[in-house]
Amino acid sequence: MAQHHFVRLKIVRLGVTYADRARSARAVRASPRRCVILRVKSYLLRFHFPVPGRLSCSSVTEIPEHLLKRSQSAKAKASGATEPAEGGTTPTAAVAKTDAAPPAVTAKALPAKAAAPPTPPPKRPDPPYVAAAKERKKIPFWAMATLSILPLWVFMYARSLSPSAVKVRGPLGAGAGLYKAGCSGCHGGNGEGGSGYAFAGGEVLKTFPHIEDQLRWVYAGTGGYSAANVSIYGNPKREPVHATGARGIMPSQGAGFGGGLSELEILEVVCHERYTLGGANPTADNKEEFEKWCAAEAPAYLGLKDGSLTFDNIGTTLKDTFPVGTKPAVGHSPDDKP
Ligand code: HEC
Repeated sequence: MAQHHFVRLKIVRLGVTYADRARSARAVRASPRRCVILRVKSYLLRFHFPVPGRLSCSSVTEIPEHLLKRSQSAKAKASGATEPAEGGTTPTAAVAKTDAAPPAVTAKALPAKAAAPPTPPPKRPDPPYVAAAKERKKIPFWAMATLSILPLWVFMYARSLSPSAVKVRGPLGAGAGLYKAGCSGCHGGNGEGGSGYAFAGGEVLKTFPHIEDQLRWVYAGTGGYSAANVSIYGNPKREPVHATGARGIMPSQGAGFGGGLSELEILEVVCHERYTLGGANPTADNKEEFEKWCAAEAPAYLGLKDGSLTFDNIGTTLKDTFPVGTKPAVGHSPDDKP
């Protein structure tokens, strides 16, 4: 009887209990294949129907009891013992019991084996490269956000590389263009001089300590000054003095002498020569002059621009100003005061 019990134990039992609410319902035994089908069915339908009962899946089909009994009696007969079912306390029965011991052992061993699957097999240690990958620092969560603004940054960086055209307001902005077009060929791109005199390094300020004399000179040029017999066009105390015609011919720029520049344009180009090329200081030594003539809000500049001032009336209209005029005239020395 005992051995029956052992043998009847299911060898492998992979039963799974479904639907607790149907626990009391009859158990459904199924072969592994049918069990899979049932599980899938119950999974798919679980929202619609409660599972009818407990589903237990066994990998081994249960052997009918009478067949087991038969095989055991046959075994017992073969080994010369009486049928184990008759008499439990007889010596033969005892022999049968001892005989039956080995299957009992195997049967006991088997459930132990069956219990093994639930305990997971010991994990194999990761290969070194997997372990390294697991230990390696992961990409931080903010990396994606940072990367997503990268194109924006590239765009802004690229824009910052192209120099933004600095728009110089007032006479200096326009003067630069006029100088490049009409004067740089003889006086050098940076006022370093050529066939005409240099302006850079304060040279132009030595010839014209007062801007009024320079404006008149550019307007009339060498031709105008020669015709008027004015032998020194700038500072008469300059050393060496710049005498009319000594260096060559400075083309006349003003309309009265056939030149192509307006009085406003002459002011603009002269401001460029003095402040951008010649080294005049708009915030210190030449501050007063700059604010009167060459600043964006300078009254002389604005007056020439709107036509309220001309070279002829500017000396009498603006305070503390030498006459400019459109006729050649002797220049002033640094100490002269208007
Ligand atoms: C064809 C060449 C040439 C061009 C173009 C020219 N100049 Fe001159 N410039 C001269 C020469 C030559 C002199 C010296 C004149 C003399 O000796 O009589 C001179 C003298 C000057 C002087 C006096 C400099 C000094 O320190 O004595 C000024 C200011 C001047 N030029 C301004 C200009 C301006 C402004 C322009 C453009 C609108 C201009 N020049 C275009 C040849 C030129």
